[in-house]
Amino acid sequence: MGKATQDLKNEHEAILFVLQILDKMLESSSSNVESALRYYGEVVYFLKIFADKCHHGKEENYLFKALVEKGITNEGGPVGVMLREHALGRNYISQMSRSQDEKNIEGFNNAAVLYRDLLRQHIDKENNVLFIMADKLINEQEQNILFQQFEQHEENVIGHGIHDKLHAMIDTWAEDFGVE
Ligand SMILES: [Fe+2]
Ligand SMILES: [Fe+2]
Repeated sequence: MGKATQDLKNEHEAILFVLQILDKMLESSSSNVESALRYYGEVVYFLKIFADKCHHGKEENYLFKALVEKGITNEGGPVGVMLREHALGRNYISQMSRSQDEKNIEGFNNAAVLYRDLLRQHIDKENNVLFIMADKLINEQEQNILFQQFEQHEENVIGHGIHDKLHAMIDTWAEDFGVE
């Protein structure tokens, strides 16, 4: 696997791990509304910064553009499908964020289930279809350049301080909800 696609695959693992924790949060949300809302606020923060800005940003600004240059279709093709799913995911995150502000547990849970299901199948398609295509079309040298652009992008949108904060947040949730 190329360096760039491997980096995105590693981020998929982190996102899937958070979705596993989110499942537990959803299950226990009715028993303690105050604490559920606090966790939900943190989850929305993680999804906005890490899953959307950082990860989807790397895909949209660099990998997908490279694929289109190699002849993969955008409109009506695999890249277009991925972009539409990112946009849909953004809508769900907004709904989650709004519901969290309004202390609307049910609204949050409904949007979170839609987001979780969307992202799981989206990640599956990228790992098993799109990244396989990318590894065939983009050579090692080009993958290394993409990876450098990813590193720069990550530094711009996250930086070290927030990176550590996000990791610490995930560790705390994993412990609180018994997810390994
Ligand atoms: Fe994606
Ligand atoms: Fe992805």
